[in-house]
Amino acid sequence: MDDHAQSNRRLWNEWSDAFQAAWNADTDDDLPPAPSPFDADAPGFAEQSLLDASDVEGADYVELGCGGGQGTVGTAELGADAVGLDFSEEQLAHARRLRDFYGADARFAQGDVTSLPFPDDRFDLASSEAAFQMVADLDRALAEAHRVLRPGGVFVLSVPHPLYEAFDAETSELTRDYLDPGPRDITISEEYGETLTVFDRPIDARYNALAEAGFDVHRLVEHQHPHVAENDPGARDLPDALWKVPRSVRFWAVA
Ligand SMILES: C[S@@+](CC[C@H](N)C(=O)[O-])C[C@H]1O[C@@H](n2cnc3c(N)ncnc32)[C@H](O)[C@@H]1O
Repeated sequence: MDDHAQSNRRLWNEWSDAFQAAWNADTDDDLPPAPSPFDADAPGFAEQSLLDASDVEGADYVELGCGGGQGTVGTAELGADAVGLDFSEEQLAHARRLRDFYGADARFAQGDVTSLPFPDDRFDLASSEAAFQMVADLDRALAEAHRVLRPGGVFVLSVPHPLYEAFDAETSELTRDYLDPGPRDITISEEYGETLTVFDRPIDARYNALAEAGFDVHRLVEHQHPHVAENDPGARDLPDALWKVPRSVRFWAVA
């Protein structure tokens, strides 16, 4: 694991309880949310997806950088044989708790997305939400995603939109160069010893990296905010200017 990954992992272990509390803030007696990227009822899904529900049911699925396991559990609930992978033990503990809340049939594994502990051609579906922007060696991570997918397997890759990331979230001013690929260190809060290192690669760099890894990109979606706000607790208190740029970008790619 490289130095960036090691310090990111320490940060995620420290931050995990507070991060997952935001996910679960409004749930009291209800089940915490577990949205799947393959949920046919999600806004915009029909226009974006390469799949229908029958493709997900019974599919072998892996979530890369699963965090609290929301996507893994949500996709298991759609009938997939689901595995979530993350390098943070604390995030995985939350993921297992969410699975147990749901009584879902999902498994979790610890590992780095640049060196997956799975054999070749193991999965039909893979997804990653808000994790690959933290990966220094993007080519290696994408090669690994391609390796573990069967030919024709679908990879849904979502990352924060690099244009959104160029704005200062408090002043709403454009403070960074969209073309700057990073690394950039983010201080989450003084209470944590580590910063989070991210790589805000422009869209063309990400698209070309997917192609280099052997993927055919079939769809590219710049997310509408109503969709994101519904699924992301961090999107609730956005300043006005930031509603005018996409919050995230999602690639639908085929191995
Ligand atoms: C912002 S969270 C997103 C989690 C989840 N996908 C979601 O949408 O809520 C990013 C997750 O990626 C994980 N992560 C970051 N870099 C990773 C790497 N190189 N290998 C495995 N997991 C990684 C972190 O531990 C964290 O749980």
